[in-house]
Amino acid sequence: MVKINFTLPDGSTRAIDAAPGGSLMKAATSHLVPGIVAECGGNASCATCHVYLETEDVALACPDGSVEDEMLDFTASPRRANSRLSCQVQVGDQLEGLTVEVPGAQV
Ligand code: FES
Repeated sequence: MVKINFTLPDGSTRAIDAAPGGSLMKAATSHLVPGIVAECGGNASCATCHVYLETEDVALACPDGSVEDEMLDFTASPRRANSRLSCQVQVGDQLEGLTVEVPGAQV
């Protein structure tokens, strides 16, 4: 299992143990982390699973020119350099101990 820490808009935190292999969005929603809407179910077409990954690891940055990169221009909360669509982030050891901030608005 991969431990992932979420910071919620109200300042509270949630820690989950996510199974490797699935998406960060699925891990969050299956653990009832609030604030991840995921209207499109993980198809990178709604931008309501937006999160901020608190990391300097460039390997976890959104790939330039990807569909995700385009969709991140349509998030309800401001896009930052560390913005990702959580449905496009695969859970694995690279996320161990990572803090993920949930934005204040998704729609
Ligand atoms: S769930 Fe719709 S873009 Fe991620």
